[in-house]
Amino acid sequence: MFESALRDAQERVQTCLDTTMSKYQGEIAEAMRYTCRGGKRVRAFLVIEGSRLFDVPKEQADRAAAAIEAIHAYSLVHDDLPCMDDDDLRRGNPTVHVKWDEATAVLTGDALQTYAFELLSDSNTAPDASVRIELITTLAKASGAEGMVLGQALDIAAETARTSLTLEEITHLQAGKTGALIEWAGQAGAILANTNRDPLRQYARALGLAFQIADDILDVTGDADKAGKRLQKDEAAGKATFVSHLGLTGARQRASDLVEEARAALAVYGDNADSLKSLAEFVINRDM
Ligand code: IPE
Ligand code: IPE
Ligand code: MG
Ligand code: MG
Ligand code: MG
Repeated sequence: MFESALRDAQERVQTCLDTTMSKYQGEIAEAMRYTCRGGKRVRAFLVIEGSRLFDVPKEQADRAAAAIEAIHAYSLVHDDLPCMDDDDLRRGNPTVHVKWDEATAVLTGDALQTYAFELLSDSNTAPDASVRIELITTLAKASGAEGMVLGQALDIAAETARTSLTLEEITHLQAGKTGALIEWAGQAGAILANTNRDPLRQYARALGLAFQIADDILDVTGDADKAGKRLQKDEAAGKATFVSHLGLTGARQRASDLVEEARAALAVYGDNADSLKSLAEFVINRDM
C-alpha cells in the first residue's frame, strides 16, 4: 500500500518534470533533466499525499511536487560542489560538476530554482492567484536566507568553527538545512486546498528532524552503493551531528520518538493519512 503509493508519486512527479522541462533546450537543460532523475521523492510524496487528503486535483499537486523536487535537486547540485561538500557521486551517478564542470553545476542549480517558481506561478498549479502567491511566498522563505540556505551556511561554518555545535545548535541548523523544504512539502496540500495547515505542519516538523537524524545515522552506518552517495564524511569533516552527540542508539531512539510524534499529529485525518504515517517509518528505516 505505502510502496505502491510511493511508486505512484515517483512516476507522477517524473512525468510532470519531464513534460514541463521539455521546452528547455541546450546544455543547462540537459543537466537540469539529469539532476532531476532518481531520488526517493520523499518531498513529492508529501505534496501528493497531503493534497489527496483534501481532494486537490492531481495536476495541481503534481506541479507543486515537481517544484519542490526541483528546489531540492538544485540544493543537492550546489551542496556537492567542491566549495561545499566536494562530492563526486549523487543518486548513484557522477555529480554535475564532475560530468560537466563547475560553471554548469552553478548555473543548473540557478535554473532549477527559477524553474520551480515558474511552475508555481502558472495558473495550472492553482486557479486562484492568492493560492499561487502563498505557495510562492512560503517556498521562497523555506528555500532562502531564513530556510535551506541559512541551514547550509551554518553547516559549512560549523566545519571550521573552533568549538563544535551543541545539540540545540544542530537542531536549529537542521530546521533550515533539511527541515524547511520538508515542512513546505508537508503543508503544500493544505495551501493548495486553502485550508488549515497546522496538523500537517506539526507532522512535517517532526518528520524533517527524524529525516536528518536518519541521514546522520546513514552517514556512519550506511552502504555507499545503496545510498548512491559517499558516506562516512561527517566525522572526517569534524562535523558535530545527532550521532556524535547522542550516539547511534540515542540517535535511533530520538528518531523513533519523532516518528511517533509525527504520526500522532495526523490523528485528525484518520485512516486517510495512513500513507503519510507509513512515510514516517520509511524515513527512519531507509538505506538510501
Ligand atoms: C539528501 O536528501 C540530502 C539531504 C537533504 C539530507 P534525500 O535523501 O531526500 O535525497 P534523494 O532526493 O532521495 O536523492
Ligand atoms: C544536504 O545535506 C542538505 C541540502 C542539500 C540542503 P548533506 O550534505 O548532509 O546531504 P548529503 O549527505 O550530501 O546527501
Ligand atoms: Mg552538505
Ligand atoms: Mg552533502
Ligand atoms: Mg548528510
